[in-house]
Amino acid sequence: MNTAALDAYWMPFTPNRQFKRTPRLVASAQGLAYRTPEGREVLDGTSGLWCVGAGHRHPRIAEAMKRQIDVLDFASSFQVGHPLAFQLAERLGALAPPGLDRVFLVNSGSEACDTALKIALAYAQAIGEGQRSLFIGRDRAFHGVGFGGLAVGGMVNNRRAFGAVLPRADHLRSTWDAATQAFVRGQPKVGAEMADELEDRIVALHGAGQIAAVVVEPVAGSTGVLVPPVGYLQRLREICDRHRLLLIFDEVITGFGRLGDMFAAQTFGVVPDMIVFAKTVSNGAAPLGGVLVKREIHDALMHGPAHLAELMHGYTCSGHPLACAAGLAMLDTLEQEALPARVRALAPHFERAVHALADAPGVVSVRNIGLAAGIELAADDGAPGSRGQRAQAAAFDHGLLTRAPGDTLVLAPPFISEPEDIDRMVGCLRAAIVDSAHGAGA
Ligand SMILES: Cc1ncc(COP(=O)(O)O)c(C=O)c1O
Repeated sequence: MNTAALDAYWMPFTPNRQFKRTPRLVASAQGLAYRTPEGREVLDGTSGLWCVGAGHRHPRIAEAMKRQIDVLDFASSFQVGHPLAFQLAERLGALAPPGLDRVFLVNSGSEACDTALKIALAYAQAIGEGQRSLFIGRDRAFHGVGFGGLAVGGMVNNRRAFGAVLPRADHLRSTWDAATQAFVRGQPKVGAEMADELEDRIVALHGAGQIAAVVVEPVAGSTGVLVPPVGYLQRLREICDRHRLLLIFDEVITGFGRLGDMFAAQTFGVVPDMIVFAKTVSNGAAPLGGVLVKREIHDALMHGPAHLAELMHGYTCSGHPLACAAGLAMLDTLEQEALPARVRALAPHFERAVHALADAPGVVSVRNIGLAAGIELAADDGAPGSRGQRAQAAAFDHGLLTRAPGDTLVLAPPFISEPEDIDRMVGCLRAAIVDSAHGAGA
């Protein structure tokens, strides 16, 4: 592509000027790998962006979408409906932890986060507690880029330019503790008491009656994979119960198999009041997300004059027929190919493979759970993030797509990977880590 052809597209979350000087493009994909326009294979070490669990261009999903475009290409979900949206909602409700069987459909994780926050506010009003307008998020959390998600999110660079206009929020400390977790395998054994900050500081400071909801990712993904200590999420749940606080799990990354169950709520045995989902629900083949809501919350809002919408909220493409077709086909695929069980079976090999990188130059931490791992590199002096960027670029050149939030390389392979695919991916990562060890000019 010539330079002019790259100029018009303002790329999201990308250093545009740098990218356009040295573009790294992909042109097609199949199964576990992309191909560049020149035909070079690049393994998909991040399942696209944590979404292509079943592998690229899965035939069942592709067929379902092709069939759907010839039947019903678009139908609004405002005051009319089409069967697939209802089917999808019912299937999702049946897969979720008991009680979370009401589903609001949207098109992305960001929209899903903001939707959950609006439901929490509307619920507070509906039960006569409209003073509950404060949200509690967590440092280093990512809840998308809407104003609500940004407010509860804790990735400082994402907030800096917009902070002054965000809704009211306070933040728990992140669950990261370098002293005890640097090379932890799976869940850290210690640290559950970090959850007590919710009661000891946040409730004490603001008063429980001010708080609309507590929002956490069960495993913080985008910041570079931070795994909650054993018992931490249980403790959050107990504190929320004691103070009548809604607990929202953002499962945009963990939902639909990444940890070996449909939802992290099931992996950790903790039932939240709402689950936010997106990404893997459609295998990334169509924009789709949503919120699973406890029935009592939904029912509390089903009041007022019957001719008025109970929640003044929704998107033109909520319940889009193509997205629903992709979602239903993905749910079939997850079940028929037993993908969560495949993740559970592959996870021990994955864990051994990523932890073998501990001796690569400059690796200061490796952490993992399910098919997600963060491999953190020592930052260059005075230039946080630059080592990560170099390593990510080198990985692409070695044939692996990875992500580098800051100086952490993320590996989140598709669920259909085999042990030898994991070994190839980790081999590319090692080569990239070695290459990037020699400073910015190397
Ligand atoms: C936990 C979490 N929530 C929300 C989002 C935002 O999703 P989207 O980019 O689809 O808006 C992401 C995206 O990575 C995420 O990881």
